Amino acid sequence: MALLIDRIGELVTNDPAVGERPLGIIRNAAVVVRDGRVVWVGPRTRAQPCDEVWDAAGRAVLPGFVESHSHLVFAGDRAEEFAARMAGRPYEAGGIRSTIAATRAASDHELDAHLARLAAEYRRQGTTTLEVKSGYGQTVRDEERSVRLAHAHTAEATLLAAHVPPPEFAGRVDDYVHLVVEEMIPACAPHARWIDAFCEVGAFDAEQTRAVLDAGRRAGLGVRVHANQLTAGPSVRLGVELGAASVDHCVHLSPADVDALAGSDTVATLLPAADFSTRGPYPEARRLLDAGVTVALGADCNPGTSYTTSLPFVIALAVRELRMTPSEAVWAATAGGAAALRRDDVGRLTPGSRADLVVLDAPSHVHLAYRPGVPLVAQVFTGGVVLPPA
Ligand code: NIG
Ligand code: FE
Repeated sequence: MALLIDRIGELVTNDPAVGERPLGIIRNAAVVVRDGRVVWVGPRTRAQPCDEVWDAAGRAVLPGFVESHSHLVFAGDRAEEFAARMAGRPYEAGGIRSTIAATRAASDHELDAHLARLAAEYRRQGTTTLEVKSGYGQTVRDEERSVRLAHAHTAEATLLAAHVPPPEFAGRVDDYVHLVVEEMIPACAPHARWIDAFCEVGAFDAEQTRAVLDAGRRAGLGVRVHANQLTAGPSVRLGVELGAASVDHCVHLSPADVDALAGSDTVATLLPAADFSTRGPYPEARRLLDAGVTVALGADCNPGTSYTTSLPFVIALAVRELRMTPSEAVWAATAGGAAALRRDDVGRLTPGSRADLVVLDAPSHVHLAYRPGVPLVAQVFTGGVVLPPA
């Protein structure tokens, strides 16, 4: 059975073959969906009749957002830490340890229910592909269950056992790295697609990060890195050297980092909601874009630095604070996220792609930045199926 999504005022395809770069916009468009896939896009006057019709009533339709960076397996929150930060205390990686304690104490059921609630929150705001990291367990048992719970919700599960060294390994970080390499990766790899590590002062140095990422690679996992978030360091270049799909945060960039990225197929994933919530500097998106680096945007939902699931908010921030154009920001939150996850079936609306679509209560994608804070996502389709109301 075919579904015609008709009377689309502005269709974002992300296909440069059908319209101007980067968004490939078609006006007065229609999309035909069959068996969960897009089978046709084009001007509505040329659409074939279908069994079923969904009327977009002149509104804008985009590919669903692709979130390539989230930490949803955790318990508790850190509202007080946030309030203290807004009163002047700086963010430090060590805050992660309070979430580790709460996560270890939670039952599987509690963790799963919380993860499901946050994933649903993401979906209601238009995210149809979601990467989820472990990283608040930091024992073999707790990382294994974190990544197993994540994997039950998404194919894009990431093992972030190297988030911060847990308190019982204080002063013995190399012993913790040994545990990650020898025990956690073998136990967790069956549930994960990706390995990640937080390379930062107070977390893991370059050598430790390399040991973890290399071991993950040997276990068949793809590489991603938390790189240059709080300080300048070697992790962007390390990620490129190891063939990472994405290096994430990239707030502090040297010219050598930008050159390395520009000469690679590693995506720079920017997470400005984390910089917003830590009151930190924003990454220099223009330097990356002007150098030809592929840029993705993510929300980085986590209880410490960015407790938001809203890609529309991130797009608005990227336009205002990172000086991305609305088109660049929408591309980065859809096709950019797909590139960061090395997926070619999402982040675009072209024949063969998954029928994951967002209908905005607005005539164009520009409204996502132009009307910040307004709930513009009117309807979400995942695999051609309308998301039921919450
Ligand atoms: O992406 N940087 C490391 N991880 C998270 C923060 C985690 C936390 O503070 O709980 C991030 O910002
Ligand atoms: Fe993160």
